[in-house]
Amino acid sequence: MDRPATDISLWTGSPPITDGRLQDFVADPIACMRKLHREHGDIAALRESEQQLVFIFSPELNHQVLSDSKLFHSRFFALRGPKKSALRRLTSGLLTMNGDEHKQQRRLVAAPFEKRTIGVYHDTISSLTDEMLDAWQPGTTLDLAQEMTVLMRRITSSILFGADQMEIALEIGEMLDPWVEVNHHLSLGAFLPTEDFMPRYEELLALAERLESRILDLIRFRREAGKLGSDLLSQLIRGHDQTGVSNEQLVGHVAVLFGAAHMTSALTLGWTLFLLAQHPDVMRSLFRELLAGAYDEPLAAFDSGKGLLLDRVLRESMRVLPASSYSQRSNAVPMELGPLSLPRNTVIIFSQFMTQHRPDLFPNPETFDPDRWLSITPSPYEYLPFGAGPRLCLGAPLALMTMKSILPRILRRYRLSVAAGAEITGRVVSTMLNPIGGLPMEVARQDGRFAASPVWGNIHTLIDLPEAAHERRAAA
Ligand code: HEM
Repeated sequence: MDRPATDISLWTGSPPITDGRLQDFVADPIACMRKLHREHGDIAALRESEQQLVFIFSPELNHQVLSDSKLFHSRFFALRGPKKSALRRLTSGLLTMNGDEHKQQRRLVAAPFEKRTIGVYHDTISSLTDEMLDAWQPGTTLDLAQEMTVLMRRITSSILFGADQMEIALEIGEMLDPWVEVNHHLSLGAFLPTEDFMPRYEELLALAERLESRILDLIRFRREAGKLGSDLLSQLIRGHDQTGVSNEQLVGHVAVLFGAAHMTSALTLGWTLFLLAQHPDVMRSLFRELLAGAYDEPLAAFDSGKGLLLDRVLRESMRVLPASSYSQRSNAVPMELGPLSLPRNTVIIFSQFMTQHRPDLFPNPETFDPDRWLSITPSPYEYLPFGAGPRLCLGAPLALMTMKSILPRILRRYRLSVAAGAEITGRVVSTMLNPIGGLPMEVARQDGRFAASPVWGNIHTLIDLPEAAHERRAAA
């Protein structure tokens, strides 16, 4: 099995550089990072011709890079498009801002995300979840990854843009997925010398035009007299009107918020339900808590839910299969980072997956063990599913509240088991850990008869599953 080294300080003097193919990272980020970590320890560079990617794997280096947003800039969107283009405006949200501008805009965007504000979305989340559950049929198999994506797109549309504009909001949500995908594909092309990525640039510009035009429609609608509501866009408009921010500037914030919110939450929900289905003992304990009424008062549970098993389940799920598996920065000036000399604008990759799978921080790191959280308190740079430092995810409280509302609702009504013999493959695409090929789950009325199913696929290289969850065919 391809696992990171236990000894994390292998660097002994020669530069920790591997000459290889950058394409290897694009093709399978986790396998590539594990290999670099094994070869070099906490910091490594992958170099091809004049291009290099630098990787950091330790909490200390995470701290150094993530806590200093003046020196280490976000490079989420490597391609910004021509000045005055729709693409330029769409990529001008928080994720591209740095330094003082980032600090100031983040304060504006943060207001609607405060813990005391987000409770107003609870009813919307509950009713949209119930609509999905009403359509599920016991005795059928569904793709849980797809179900969670559609659910989160609907919830995000409603929270961000208001239920009265659901149709256009959903349209925006659907347009965002290919836009994010092409964007990421091209941004990797910017440092890959061999691939012919540019034909998709025209496609990206055209997608951006259509996307921006629909977002502007929504902003204009909300700005009409009497149309402001409690949705996030309305709150942003109220806040921004006091500071004179234009519709075009709002476009960037809206695009980032929508993209950041729905994909990560959908992936986390899908992986969590998969892990629960494959760990019947944990599922049984959670079900007992559910029957005992621990989740009947959801809003109380969000704040004080730290002692509840669901809280530990989510922490552990986001540790072992983090939706956001890596992210990037670039250095604003030439500098030394550990043993490496970095020219300005070097791509520096930090990885939630790699740090959170370190055996020195999390013993038996590939085991899904929610109860480990009864005795550990990792630092923000050891456990960072929502990032860390000045760019810490703004939506974390909302995401946790959403997931803690949805999961008990699903588990009260249905028992989900992974379709026996399914191939489960986790691959990082656009920085996010996706179940490629979906998560096929059998739906039954909830009867508490939990059992793991044998599955195969690369999931067994990412985590350890109980014996019953191994496909015999694959093991033979
Ligand atoms: C389980 C769900 C989520 C996960 C795992 C997640 C993860 C992350 C991570 C890792 C970052 C930092 C990226 C970096 O440092 O490069 C981030 C930033 C961000 N997230 Fe989330 N996120 C989630 C949900 C949400 C939601 C629901 C929203 C908003 C509705 C949101 C809005 C943002 C924003 C605006 C940023 C940028 C903050 C900044 O640059 O100052 N996220 N998220």
